[in-house]
Amino acid sequence: MAEQTTARVLVASNRGPVAFRHAPDGSLTPRRGGGGLVSGLSAIDDPHAVWVCAALGEADRAAARQSPQGRLDLAGFDVGGQAVRMLDIDPVVFDQAYNGVANSTLWFLHHQLYNTPTAPAFDQAAAERWAGFREYNEAFAAALAAEAAPGAAVLVQDYHLTLVPALLRERRPDLRIGYFLHTPWAPVDYFRLLPDEPAAAVLTGVLGADRAGFHTRRWAEAFADCCERVLGATVDRAALTVTFQGRTTALGVHPLGADAEFLRERAHRADVDERLAALKAAVGERRTIVRVDRTELSKNIVRGLQAYLHLLRTRPEWHDRLVHIAFAYPSRQDLAEYRDYTAAVRRISEEINAEFGTATWQPLILQVEDDFARSLAAYRLADVALVNPIRDGMNLVAKEVPVVSEAGCALVLSREAGAWAELAEDAIGINPYDVVGTAEALHRGLTMPAAERTERTKRLAAAATALSPQQWFLDQLAALTAS
Ligand code: F6P
Repeated sequence: MAEQTTARVLVASNRGPVAFRHAPDGSLTPRRGGGGLVSGLSAIDDPHAVWVCAALGEADRAAARQSPQGRLDLAGFDVGGQAVRMLDIDPVVFDQAYNGVANSTLWFLHHQLYNTPTAPAFDQAAAERWAGFREYNEAFAAALAAEAAPGAAVLVQDYHLTLVPALLRERRPDLRIGYFLHTPWAPVDYFRLLPDEPAAAVLTGVLGADRAGFHTRRWAEAFADCCERVLGATVDRAALTVTFQGRTTALGVHPLGADAEFLRERAHRADVDERLAALKAAVGERRTIVRVDRTELSKNIVRGLQAYLHLLRTRPEWHDRLVHIAFAYPSRQDLAEYRDYTAAVRRISEEINAEFGTATWQPLILQVEDDFARSLAAYRLADVALVNPIRDGMNLVAKEVPVVSEAGCALVLSREAGAWAELAEDAIGINPYDVVGTAEALHRGLTMPAAERTERTKRLAAAATALSPQQWFLDQLAALTAS
């Protein structure tokens, strides 16, 4: 029998399941990526599945160039069995698409991050960035069209690839095309910041899919509102469908959960135990507030630190009895806004320690080096977890902490995080802009009776793991192939 050369199941995302780096001897070494998508994909039981992603740095590009059509040789490497095709996209085009449109325009739009008196401005440079974004999306559509077997199922991920569903449908109308957005979707009045052409391209791009998935009903409805008011599409809110130019796209709500099995095993390995011992030595008998984020504008780290400052200023009973452990890993440092934000996080952290620190008490421990084992150690130790994003598609930290917590952890959670939809009952809700309210919520978490904290943590962990990454992926695949 001839070997099958095309895939029946395909996934596409900007960041793939592996990243390469140059080893000291010059060879290229792959490293497995983290995150729910990689875990979810491990559920595909199909040796002919293909994951299409972009080469993200020089080492990735070199690996992609060494392989026929960018298909990596990952024999024996654990990415769930499927082949990975890494696209070597022109660096200028990649920069326009990833930094210029995806992480500036679309990310800012869906997370409502614009300071509108000065930004955005859709000028000639912006038009050129949109052209690059289209070219990058075309490269994905072309690769998927080339890799897919007749009638194959394709799952396109996230805001970077917004245009892919429609571009792929033009090339391959036989495919079943799914799209999933990991961020929120902007409310329609905010979405209207986009000029007509990109606004229509973004909406019709997604509507090229047979099914479009979101973490919460709130984001799905915001997308439907935009289709209705911007494009004039017909929306059936009960059935959650959008019909435009004779085609209907079904909307799905698939709230990705934490990977309980993986987390519980990983959180008790020796490297995590070691880091836990170091944290305990630094904290002593004091209570802890923990936060873990990328240093990301939407994560609202500065207001979280302002809330801690307010707590220390207004409640002296916590002096020398409390430590805030803040892990804020670097992110998107090619963008000036992120570099400035990182500097602002450092500044306020120094202010807190300067105002309250003593020879024996450091009130805030800020760490900026990415270290997953240390994050897990902090989850095990936390008395209170602070998750206060301005807006967030889901937020997996809110779901991971209750799973890993040892003695029960109060969760202070923004009502604007997607996770709020499932965790509202047992979390302490906050308005992320309300610094004083956040400080009060932290105090409430710290003074919650131990038995109540334990009970709430158990229920939070159950809600947080209701949909495992594997099931999350399989549900979407089943819905796509059944419809
Ligand atoms: O939330 C959307 C998302 O794509 C996540 O899946 C991921 O954690 C994050 O953004 C990654 O951003 P980047 O690839 O720019 O580091």
